[in-house]
Amino acid sequence: MRVLRFYRTAIGKKAVVAVTGVVLFLFLVLHMLGNLNIYSGAEKIDAYSLYLRQFAEGFFGFGGFLWIVRIVLLAAFLLHVWTIVLLVKQNKHGRPIHYRRKRRFAATLAGVTMMVTGPIILVYLVFHILQFTTGTWQPTPYKVTNSGIGSAYWNLWHAFQVWWIAWAYIAVMAMVCMHLKHGLWSMFQSIGLNNPDRNRSCRIFASVSAIAIFIGFASVPLLVWAGAVPPPPQHTDAVDAALLDVSQSFGQEH
Ligand code: HEM
Repeated sequence: MRVLRFYRTAIGKKAVVAVTGVVLFLFLVLHMLGNLNIYSGAEKIDAYSLYLRQFAEGFFGFGGFLWIVRIVLLAAFLLHVWTIVLLVKQNKHGRPIHYRRKRRFAATLAGVTMMVTGPIILVYLVFHILQFTTGTWQPTPYKVTNSGIGSAYWNLWHAFQVWWIAWAYIAVMAMVCMHLKHGLWSMFQSIGLNNPDRNRSCRIFASVSAIAIFIGFASVPLLVWAGAVPPPPQHTDAVDAALLDVSQSFGQEH
């Protein structure tokens, strides 16, 4: 098949890494923006979480659309990682000696960053989903709302009272930032956007978006831990009752 033949070439693989990378990058931007709802209070962020499940409920059922997004994300993620493994192998075999020496320093610096931060982010993801989405790992108090989903505000607030959880999150976000910066830059190279005229803009875009995502994500554990985010309301029934109203207004606003 044509698609498979294209995938076997180095250019085909780079295209797959670039496209899946863009999908993952967009997910990170949306996730980071969604998390910022914490600053609008418990009702807002929990309603946002509920809205994600109610989206197109009439057609896909409760949470159905979210499952489609999860499957697309997982496929993009697996394809991204697997194709990078194949590319690294292919490069090792095909590279002439003089080229190998000349590029060694630059290649190792970027390569080591990606190869160290990538697996750490992977391990982080497993714990992250077990902690906040499924509630399987509960090092701090965990609450489920009346709609049967984890209460984002309650769970985040309690988790980030613990210094090592807050700072572990901040450290991993720094790694996500480094991974993104190198990833975006190499994606621009793969798709041929980098040329002397555009190099500066590509580098600035990669750095600025990675730093913005870092600030957006890391601000949550940092500010909760520092006491700048108020504790969740104790009468959680009231939050639950208000939730449905707010989540409906989300649908109208967005
Ligand atoms: C400080 C940083 C972060 C915070 C506070 C945070 C918070 C959360 C919360 C509260 C949930 C549960 C949401 C819900 O069930 O509605 C969640 C889910 C998730 N997060 Fe994060 N997150 C952060 C960073 C990240 C990063 C960097 C990644 C990816 C590398 C990530 C990937 C995910 C994934 C895949 C899910 C599961 C989504 C699902 O299947 O429903 N998160 N996050």
